[in-house]
Amino acid sequence: MLNTTTKNTKAKVVNTPYFEAENILIYNEDILKITAIPNNFVDLIVTSPPYNVDIHYNSHNDDLSYEDYLEFTRKWIKKCFDLTKSEGRFLLNIPLDKNKGGQKSVGADITEIAKDIGWKYHSTIIWNEGNISRRTAWGSWLSASAPFVIAPVELIVVLYKGEWKKTGGTKQSDISKEDFMDWTNGLWTFNGESKKRIGHPAPFPIQLPHRGIKLFSYVRDVIFDPFAGSGTTLIAAEKNNRVGIGLEIDKNYCEVAKQRIIKETGRTLDFKNGKDNTSGTHNGVLQKASKAGH
Ligand SMILES: C[S@@+](CC[C@H](N)C(=O)[O-])C[C@H]1O[C@@H](n2cnc3c(N)ncnc32)[C@H](O)[C@@H]1O
Repeated sequence: MLNTTTKNTKAKVVNTPYFEAENILIYNEDILKITAIPNNFVDLIVTSPPYNVDIHYNSHNDDLSYEDYLEFTRKWIKKCFDLTKSEGRFLLNIPLDKNKGGQKSVGADITEIAKDIGWKYHSTIIWNEGNISRRTAWGSWLSASAPFVIAPVELIVVLYKGEWKKTGGTKQSDISKEDFMDWTNGLWTFNGESKKRIGHPAPFPIQLPHRGIKLFSYVRDVIFDPFAGSGTTLIAAEKNNRVGIGLEIDKNYCEVAKQRIIKETGRTLDFKNGKDNTSGTHNGVLQKASKAGH
């Protein structure tokens, strides 16, 4: 049985979910500090971390030095490694490169860090965002002196912890033949999501976690997003009959995610215990997921 109240040496940490519905849990927590989720628990991570491009998140500084950014990256990817099962997988949505403030090979650098931690590399999906608005920085116009090349794509790096072949879980796949054929082609083309519509500064479109979940997880697997933002991964998990667990450091974004989940999945709060679990203490989703042999 899992205990949601854990202690560390300095202070009592109570891991109360911000929101809990039948198959969804959101914690208003820092990925570097979370203790509520047991190690070796997660089947599939789908996430998009902060890109360090000076986005004005409420509770995270997105303008670190590149060295500090990579140090933060190393810490959270290690934490995710520990939380994942041995046959668990990791879909890491990151930029290909960084063009402002000095060119950086962000995708290659983060992939290298993940491998160094122990993640094994499987493949990379290229997400073609079709974003032509970035084509304004030409560098040296019509001159070879210092032109800029910018690819309007992002990466979804596919990693795994121990073995690529899945042998545990429900063994129930629910992907159609057409989608399987389409999505195993590693060039995914769909538009980005509107910040305004979602009410978050950097949401990804639901297509991204939806495809990843269908292709790389079984029905009722545990899907984890350490940077849940507006809850997109959790909505995709719920809609596909998976368990969705998300962390989000900012309370306002937790609320955005909660309201979105209620609206888009039809899930209301879990009133099984006769209370609103935004202030509750029980943790049925984790217990259910662990009882299900996950
Ligand atoms: C790129 S956004 C994720 C957006 C999400 N994929 C969506 O569709 O809404 C990154 C999120 O990570 C959150 N964040 C930053 N540092 C964090 C940390 N240490 N632990 C948990 N969340 C964090 C930010 O507040 C932000 O909402």
